[in-house]
Amino acid sequence: MRILTGIQPSGTPHLGNYFGAIRSSIDLQAKGETFLFIADFHALTTSNDPKALRENIINLALDWLACGLDTGKTVFFRQSDVPQVTELSWYLSNVTPVGFMERAHSYKDKLAKGFAPNMGLFTYPVLMAADILLYQSNLVPVGKDQKQHLEITRDIAIKFNNQYGEIFTIPEPLTSDNVAVVPGIDGQKMSKSYNNTIPIFGSPKKIKQAVMSIVTDSKGLEEPKDPDSCNVVALYKLFASPEELETMRANYRNGNYGYGHAKLALFDKMQEFFAPMRARRDELAKDLGYVESILKKGAEKAAAEAEKTLKKVREAVGLA
Ligand code: ADP
Ligand code: TRP
Repeated sequence: MRILTGIQPSGTPHLGNYFGAIRSSIDLQAKGETFLFIADFHALTTSNDPKALRENIINLALDWLACGLDTGKTVFFRQSDVPQVTELSWYLSNVTPVGFMERAHSYKDKLAKGFAPNMGLFTYPVLMAADILLYQSNLVPVGKDQKQHLEITRDIAIKFNNQYGEIFTIPEPLTSDNVAVVPGIDGQKMSKSYNNTIPIFGSPKKIKQAVMSIVTDSKGLEEPKDPDSCNVVALYKLFASPEELETMRANYRNGNYGYGHAKLALFDKMQEFFAPMRARRDELAKDLGYVESILKKGAEKAAAEAEKTLKKVREAVGLA
């Protein structure tokens, strides 16, 4: 079984990204052959800053490798290192009704936000279908926002297969409905777009600043507090053992325990949890040549698979 997912290089990962996506993707490595790629072609649909894009790509590679991506199990590569995907995207475009794109929620959302709709943004789901179909993927872990893109992929694959024969595996989504939403420092869903994130890497000073600014009510130090309605506790739960969590909850109920104490406890736990990953990230960052070689090796493996599919597709459409 082949599991595939793409990640857009879009800046510093936060606790929501880690507990909502990175960790579960890394755990999936035990379940089957995994392909994981940095969706840099897709990033171009909304980026016009070459320097930032280049940095985001390398940072994403460092982040994922540091978090436990095992290149013995996972084919890890940069989308643009296998440009065959754009060739497949073209073939798929020719069986894809324009209406599929016009109905895509993420496209409509971007239009509503005032993005000038270039053709890259419009045909984004065709390129995503090509990513998935090129590698004959069985299972695609996706967040809720990407579910419709996966449905579009399935529809495109079915159309192509009906027209040209059984070339593509029809992929299934793997949705993570059971993943809890991680709250941000203001209590809304943690998200880059809400500016309420706690980064998992970066300077301890910045992380501490974010933790200390988690919004709470204004109860005084000595007053008893409600652990169930407190964001600090909700975040502490992600790291603490059941006993540690119970101790904090009891401290809340008993009083004489301030939000500042709870925030420091959260900060310490968080630092301890990410320390091994941070150390690994620092090591890797000193040897970008090595990281580059990992991505190149991944791309070679991916390209070999891509060529197998493309050979069939070219023949099917009448070009070979
Ligand atoms: P952001 O909202 O910060 O832009 P993305 O949309 O890039 O984050 O999300 C990348 C992945 O992280 C997705 O799979 C998404 O489901 C997951 N994720 C993001 N924020 C959270 C959160 N607060 N709780 C749980 N998962 C999250
Ligand atoms: N569109 C996905 C996102 O923004 C990234 C992506 C590109 C992807 N190609 C993919 C995800 C193929 C899964 C499979 O999150």
